[in-house]
Amino acid sequence: MCPKRILFVCLGNICRSPMAEAVFSKIVRDHGAQAAFEVDSAGLSSYHQGDLPDSRMRWHAERRGYTLTHRSRPVKREDFDRFDLIIGMDEENIRQLNRRAATPEQRAKIRRMADFRQRLLLDEVPDPYYGGDAGFEHVIDLLEDSCAGLYAALTR
Ligand code: 4NP
Repeated sequence: MCPKRILFVCLGNICRSPMAEAVFSKIVRDHGAQAAFEVDSAGLSSYHQGDLPDSRMRWHAERRGYTLTHRSRPVKREDFDRFDLIIGMDEENIRQLNRRAATPEQRAKIRRMADFRQRLLLDEVPDPYYGGDAGFEHVIDLLEDSCAGLYAALTR
């Protein structure tokens, strides 16, 4: 398998995309496939730059065995060259990524997380920031399902 560089993207890079990074990285580790993947996450806003993930996201993540240590960083121009796949969580993320991509080749790397769903029905991974506990649990459910689908799609 060719090495794959995957960037997960959301708005703040403190809830959904660092969670996606952790879920996908665990799947990669569980398959002993660390040499084949580079995984990172970034945000379309720089508002939370340098911050750990939101404490609510970290708490729900820990309950399922994930420790989130990523520090928020904004999407950079070079990311569109460095990464093979750039995966947005919702339609607004996709719109923003498409606006920032400079070439058709860069635009072709952009995907929706929901494109890789398996069991669960989802159009997008909704922003949990202004919601309650159930929203964070829902995000992890959606990410576990779609990251498993992503791994399967990349290794078949
Ligand atoms: P994320 O969630 O995009 O999943 O990291 C959000 C985090 C922060 C804000 C919005 C969404 N915010 O408005 O600060």
